[in-house]
Amino acid sequence: MNANFTKILEENKSAFYVFDIPVLKKRVGYLRSRLPSGVSICYAVKANPFVVQQLNDVTDRFEICSPGEANICFKLRIPSEKMVISGIYKTEEVTENMVADPLFNGIFTVESLSQYQLLLQLSRKYGRKLPVLLRLTNDSQFGMNEEDIGSIVSESPETLSILGIQFFSGTQKTSLKRLVREIEYLDSFLISLEENYGYRAEELEYGPGLPVTYFQSDTFDEEEFLGGFSEALKNMNYSCHLTLELGRSISASCGKYYTHIVDMKTNKEQNYIITDGGMNHLVYFGQQMAMKRPYMHVVGKQDSVNVKNWNICGSICSMNDIIVKQTPFPEVEAGDTICFENTGAYCMTEGASLFLSRDIPAIYIQTENDKFTCVRRTFQTELLNTPVYERN
Ligand SMILES: Cc1ncc(COP(=O)(O)O)c(C=O)c1O
Repeated sequence: MNANFTKILEENKSAFYVFDIPVLKKRVGYLRSRLPSGVSICYAVKANPFVVQQLNDVTDRFEICSPGEANICFKLRIPSEKMVISGIYKTEEVTENMVADPLFNGIFTVESLSQYQLLLQLSRKYGRKLPVLLRLTNDSQFGMNEEDIGSIVSESPETLSILGIQFFSGTQKTSLKRLVREIEYLDSFLISLEENYGYRAEELEYGPGLPVTYFQSDTFDEEEFLGGFSEALKNMNYSCHLTLELGRSISASCGKYYTHIVDMKTNKEQNYIITDGGMNHLVYFGQQMAMKRPYMHVVGKQDSVNVKNWNICGSICSMNDIIVKQTPFPEVEAGDTICFENTGAYCMTEGASLFLSRDIPAIYIQTENDKFTCVRRTFQTELLNTPVYERN
């Protein structure tokens, strides 16, 4: 085991994550090599805000969905030209602060007619021509329907520069057929905007929700999938600049989550390993009742022979807090560490981390030469869960 990692392991008596930056950057390179040339990549910050800075030199844009995400990007000095201020709820105050700042040059998405009115009003108030993308709905609460987009482009407001269309319809989409249908729909919609309204979109920002292989039973062939996906993009009749909004498929593979075995028992012939982590830190999209086996190993025992089946549980007071059922493991004991792989997207923010007032794990960034930098110390949630009675 690498000496730097051994030190991290010794220092962390509770669960922690490691995000490996060379793996992350290689992944972006791989995706670019499999996508049609000239396609831009926009990283969806929500997938993992801890790797934003490292992605700055390898991605073209950042999709930002909340004031919190915007502040993270400002603090990390991401150039505003690379920001796409997205999100179903844009507060008037935060939006105005951005528009009022002459140094802010981000793009805004328009998710509703009221967001359109807000941006119109602010652009007039501050005498700015704001670049916007109109978000097309996928028949959900997100975005606007085709007619509303049609009415906006036909108004052709002077103070907004309508760059094109944004579309996102879901994550972890494993059906290539579905993606091809979606691309055909977007193609015909862009053509219809030109035919019906004389509006020519310069660009399409599309979140295809590219899938990630999480479980050992997955039979997904990514190379073939990306080949088919790229082919469908190349087959579009409408020609404009394409940006792909991606989160999971960029950052999942760079992450490892480490949790320690704190107890072991056998109840009614079922073997249980209790870890100091669990569902509050680890969320695998598509995991049902812990039936699937994620990519995982016991640290330092990768090559050992499996001797027993275990149910691996977290330490939340819920019978649902089982990470995986009946998984074969080598000889293990309390104090051993289990590593769960492909945990670089969403896990660290999607878990119910405040439940039971357990600690939020530390986060390390692993860089070239296996150097580890702690970018978040273990955080005690009891601080947030303790009522504060302010004295008058
Ligand atoms: C608007 C938007 N774009 C992009 C993404 C990223 O999706 P994924 O992680 O599946 O690539 C999301 C995820 O929710 C999203 O809401």
